[in-house]
Amino acid sequence: MAADHRLGFRPVREEIRETLPTEGDVPEWLSGTLLRNGPGTWNAGRQPLTHWFDGFAMIRRFRFRDGEIEYANRFLDSEAYAHAREHGELGYREFATDPPTGLLGRLRRLRSTEFTDNACVDVCRIGDRYLATTESPLVTEIDPDSLETRGRYAFGDVTDTTTVHPQYDFDERELVGYGTRFGGGSTGGYTLFRVPDGSEDASIVGEIESDPPGYVHSFALTPRYVVLTEPPFVPNRLALVTGSSVIDGYEWRPERGTRFHVVDRQSGKTVTRHRVPPFFTFHHVNAFERGEDGRTKVVVDLIAYEDASVIEALRLRRLVTASPSLPTGELRRFSIPLDDSRDGDAVESATIYPGHVELPMIDYAHRNTREYRYVYGVGNRKRPPEDFQNQLVKIDVREREAETWSEERTYPGEPVFVPSLDRDEESESRNGDGNGNGTEDDGVLLSVVLDAEAERSFLLVIDADTMTERARAWCPHPLPFGFHGQFYAEGQERPTRSMS
Ligand SMILES: [Fe+2]
Repeated sequence: MAADHRLGFRPVREEIRETLPTEGDVPEWLSGTLLRNGPGTWNAGRQPLTHWFDGFAMIRRFRFRDGEIEYANRFLDSEAYAHAREHGELGYREFATDPPTGLLGRLRRLRSTEFTDNACVDVCRIGDRYLATTESPLVTEIDPDSLETRGRYAFGDVTDTTTVHPQYDFDERELVGYGTRFGGGSTGGYTLFRVPDGSEDASIVGEIESDPPGYVHSFALTPRYVVLTEPPFVPNRLALVTGSSVIDGYEWRPERGTRFHVVDRQSGKTVTRHRVPPFFTFHHVNAFERGEDGRTKVVVDLIAYEDASVIEALRLRRLVTASPSLPTGELRRFSIPLDDSRDGDAVESATIYPGHVELPMIDYAHRNTREYRYVYGVGNRKRPPEDFQNQLVKIDVREREAETWSEERTYPGEPVFVPSLDRDEESESRNGDGNGNGTEDDGVLLSVVLDAEAERSFLLVIDADTMTERARAWCPHPLPFGFHGQFYAEGQERPTRSMS
């Protein structure tokens, strides 16, 4: 095996729980649990899985206590994984790989409610319950200590798929999310829901009709509005029959443009829709309302791709080449007027940072839904990328400048921002408009980094203000590349972040 990113697509077998050897100083105030999700293996017996997003879920946990870091990893005990181990092939349709059945089987699945429970994308907490999630209504509860699988959880069980990026509103104290309805006799679209603190049940906020609905992976939230960004990547019924998987049933239809649906969070009514030239996105960064020229605009920052070819680019056969060619996702800002106009020209757009950035992160607890200054993410040293994600990047959206962290032959994952507990809360509120706040980047980033040469991963702790290393803790093995995670601070009710 070459000493490069391909090690991040090699399955792990062992499940471990141990205190990690650590270099440097872990901040004393850093106390809590980083829970992360991602594939642990792409092995389904004799059937090869074909996409990074298909892998069987393995939870990783890093617990920070008294300057020490304890690591644990454990596979999610899903029916999908159990079926694959028992039968040597898939039993459920994954993101880009289908169970090996013929045309009749595919026709049956058009009406099937048998979603995969391979929840390999993110984690979420509702009340005291910790959940593993994927783009399926089937959510799985896990024990955050032992990482054992506890069973199904019926969260958002109102649609065909549920977003893996619900958002938590710290002012309203509620979780907001959406699911996608594919129609099947009724009109397709999206169902917005909320889960107030103290409740475990989702209540419906409103419906957005869009038939067929697009592939929508995340959304934007402001104090008053939900913004759903709908790329023209839509299901094609015929392709679902003749094609082979969930995502192969989608097609890029640029003539539809990309649509912004702006919905009032109280009434559930769509306030305005705008159509702009087509682009694709997985991840929103942040959004806020701003008064300009006597009009209210909703500003939405997201990671934009020219088209949906990024999904093909993340197939395993393309990723396990020496220099995978990946499309560039750039940080773009859209300013959407709330006038009832469908004229896309009214929407202004600007590129904030032209290099590649993904898995974006902000100081979510203090800045989500507000004006803000810093975005963190994984990136690439070149545009277009000639390698897998090989640096961390911090973008100053006000000054349009960037700082990076990188090391040869290392491949960092999503950097989770944890605000410093030493923050001056008075200064925080005084400077809370995002225009010159000196404390927004007072905290650390936690990123699982693959060191291909050392053939191990390490948990990197870096100062968010200087983008320099504070500490690294060595895992006993190389970890497959994962997706998303949350940090749950000791003694605090909410995660430091709930989306992106
Ligand atoms: Fe995501």
